Amino acid sequence: MASKRTLLLVIAVAVASMVASGAPPVQPPRIQADVIVMGFVPCNNGTSMRTGSAPGFAGAVVQLQCAADDGGAGLAANATTDGKGRFRMALNTTVAPSSVASRCDLVVGTPLASCNAALPAAGTLHSNLRLIASMVFFPQGFSYAAAASSTD
Ligand SMILES: *[C@@H]1O[C@H](CO)[C@@H](O)[C@H](O)[C@H]1NC(C)=O
Ligand SMILES: *[C@@H]1O[C@H](CO)[C@@H](O)[C@H](O)[C@H]1NC(C)=O
Ligand SMILES: *[C@@H]1O[C@H](CO)[C@@H](O)[C@H](O)[C@H]1NC(C)=O
Repeated sequence: MASKRTLLLVIAVAVASMVASGAPPVQPPRIQADVIVMGFVPCNNGTSMRTGSAPGFAGAVVQLQCAADDGGAGLAANATTDGKGRFRMALNTTVAPSSVASRCDLVVGTPLASCNAALPAAGTLHSNLRLIASMVFFPQGFSYAAAASSTD
């Protein structure tokens, strides 16, 4: 089971890198993990933003946050986006990949002002997950949420 999942992961990563680069990779990356979460973080304060809807948010810290119930506890990971706003995180988990999407979401704590000074210096971007392959998750689309008021 573990080796089958690892093989599927290698295939999924290889396909994803071919799509991204438009050419077959010379050396497909080999990452051993149960679950991979990858995608694009936009530098904008819109709603349900997909790839291409805004410039990439470089250097953003993306946190995978999961509900702590029924074995989801401890399922957490961080990644930092590259210069084009793309990130990838891999993690081993005992949680079934099919339930990761319902338990977990992505939160970007890095202020939007750090990629565009005209954007708010507070608040977060967040996105639910969608399963795109047997264990590969993409953000459904990031949405901006203003910071909760600290005066109440
Ligand atoms: C992710 O980063 C946050 C904030 O820096 C930290 O509190 C948390 O422990 C990190 N989680 C993991 C799994 O590294
Ligand atoms: C997942 O577990 C395998 C086997 O123990 C290990 O080789 C691999 O580095 C782990 N991957 C991550 C992302 O922790
Ligand atoms: C997005 O940022 C702009 C510039 O700071 C601001 O005028 C606008 O109100 C923000 N939109 C939301 C939904 O916060």
